[in-house]
Order: sequence, then structure tokens, then C-alpha cells
Amino acid sequence: MQFRTRAIHVGQEHDRATGAIVPPIHVASTFVQPDASMTAPYDYARTASPTRAGFEATLAALDNGTRALAFASGMAATHCATQILRPGDRIVTGTDIYGGTWRLFNKLLADRGIAITSVDTSDTANVAAAMGPDVRLVWIESPGNPLLSITDIAACAEIAHAAGALLACDATIATPALTRPLDHGADIVMHSATKSIGGHSDLLGGALVVRDADLGTRLHWLQNATGGVMGPFESFLCSRGLKTLELRVHAQSDTALRLAGWLLGHPRVKAVRYPGLPGHAGHAIACRQMEGGFGSLMSFELDGDVTAARRVVESTRIFQLAVSLGAAESLIELPAVMSHGSYEPAARRAVGIADGLIRLAVGLEAFEDLREDLAAALA
Ligand SMILES: Cc1ncc(COP(=O)(O)O)c(C=O)c1O
Repeated sequence: MQFRTRAIHVGQEHDRATGAIVPPIHVASTFVQPDASMTAPYDYARTASPTRAGFEATLAALDNGTRALAFASGMAATHCATQILRPGDRIVTGTDIYGGTWRLFNKLLADRGIAITSVDTSDTANVAAAMGPDVRLVWIESPGNPLLSITDIAACAEIAHAAGALLACDATIATPALTRPLDHGADIVMHSATKSIGGHSDLLGGALVVRDADLGTRLHWLQNATGGVMGPFESFLCSRGLKTLELRVHAQSDTALRLAGWLLGHPRVKAVRYPGLPGHAGHAIACRQMEGGFGSLMSFELDGDVTAARRVVESTRIFQLAVSLGAAESLIELPAVMSHGSYEPAARRAVGIADGLIRLAVGLEAFEDLREDLAAALA
């Protein structure tokens, strides 16, 4: 079955009792047991719940995994994955990662005895050099955020596995419609479902997807023990979002590529970061590990100072000034003070996130309207 057919049919069978083509939303927190053995498929909704299970089944099928776990947010999913570590273990991670992930790793886990080594993972020689016997997890994000760096997933998997570590990939920006990291050797895929999976700026959610059954069991144990699960209504919205994921992401990618090309030729723009541009340093790898497009996110720098960048993000009319990505509405923001404001300023500048960098999350509006909106703001 092709991707978009799986997105509509796997895990989303019609309701046998009524014939309803959309499975009902099961809101129950507890399930009546046929006997006292606790072996029924559902007993208590933190452990498993039918509407969540439907979304998890669809997502696992789309990511070519065997199991998906749905969480209350992307950060809850990321946090759960890091619970496989113990004090004394180390994470090797990228420098171009979501600000909240940076904060979790450097400001929370680091205080609890887990060492963090941040390297530019777009050069996998840096990853190899950072490995050691204490590294249990390599955490990458590709495309990275907000610099849109591309990391070679297959090469990182080889490096991680050779050192006895797991590779986790935050594939929020790519989505399973464009990249399936498990196919490239990753052990854990993480998605902020808040973004393209939900797709409409109206929910918070996250997910982990794995191929290895034992790892899935371990992560499910941790999820049940810590409790940050996705609720039934969000699970329903995510299942609905997945049905149109491929169509939306392909349309956004087409518009994003055209906008990136247009921005590149704009006299006020100094640099454009978008992996679909042939001049992007990771373009060849992106062509290998992304299919159907290069995603909806891009960033650019003005030939001007921070004040000029601030004026641009504050003057668009269709691009809304807001963090997030992957929705119907196009968004614009300044990562230094918004999406990546949780970095220490010095660390942020050191990894190349300039104060005046502008990030665009392209939505589903017409290319012409978005171009005119940006042209007016840049004028
Ligand atoms: C790439 C990426 N990963 C993870 C997250 C965290 O997800 P959530 O906001 O759903 O907790 C975000 C949120 O912006 C993100 O952009």
C-alpha cells in the first residue's frame, strides 16, 4: 500500500458496531475487565487507549516502524526517550536543534548526571570524534532547526551502532511524508505532532516510533511510568491530520522551494537556508534521504541589522508572527528571541544562530500571495 493510502486506512477501520466510517473517540479513562487477570487489550487509559492506539498504528505504518507511542507534546516524547539513560551516560547531539531540546539536554539532564556533547552533526566526522564508551544516545535533527542543516542519518546510525549507542532522529520538520529515518538505520524517530502531523495549529502532541520490539516495550514502560500520554481528542485530530499529511507537506514544500529561490535573488537578502536549493551544503544528502520535497521550513538573513530583521517579521500580513511550523497558516519569527530563546545567548551565537536570522514556516496559502507579502515587508 502506498503512503497516502496507509495514512487513510491503517489503524482507522470503520466502527463495526454502527458502521461509522470514522472510528469513535473513546474518552474512557478505565475499561471494564472480563476477569481479574488484567490481560484485556485495554485496562487503564494511561497504559493504552483505543483512539490513541489507532493514531499510533497509522503513524508506525507511515514511518515503517513496528510501534509508535503518542505523547502529550513533542518535549514529553523527547524526555521519555532520554529516560533510557542513567547518570554517567552521555548524549552526543547536534548544534542545530530545537531550542526546547537544547534546554532539556543542557539545563535539565546535564544537572542530573547525563553529559551532553554538542557538535555540528552535518559533518559526521564530528559525530565520530565525539563518540566514546559512555555515549548511549546520539540525537540528531534533520533538517535542523533553525539553520536547516542536513545530517546524514545512515552515516550517523553506523557511527552510533559501532559505539554501542542508539540513534534517535527528530524528524518533525521532514515528517514521515519526506523522510523515514528508521529506513536509514535510526533506532528512534521523534515527531512533534503539534506541527505537520496535527497540521492545523490546534493541538499539542508528540510521538516516538521504533522498529525494534524490545525498545518499543522499554519506551512504553517508561511512558506508562511517567504518564505524559496523548489524550483521546488530540489522538483523533492527529489521525485526521495524517490523512492529508502527504498532500499538505508536498504542497508546502513546492511553495517553500519557490519562495527560497525568490528570496535568494532578492537584493536585501544576504543568505537563504533551504535544503532544496542546489547551493545548500546538505543538498546532495537531502536528495538521498528526503523524497517528494524538502519541507516547509527555511531561514534567511538580511543584509542589515537586527532592527531591520525585527521590522520585517513585524510587518508581514499573511505570514503571522508566531513560533511553530507545519500548519495551514504561514508563520514568520526571529529564532534568537522566539523559538530558540531558551538557548544561552552565547551558545546560540556560537552555533551560528545570528540575532537577525528570520525563520519562515510556509503554510498552504498561494505562493503569489506569500511572495507579495514578503516583498512588501522587505521593501
Ligand atoms: C523540531 C522540533 N522538535 C521538537 C519540538 C517540541 O515539540 P512540542 O512543542 O510539541 O513539545 C519542536 C517544537 O517547536 C520542534 O520544532
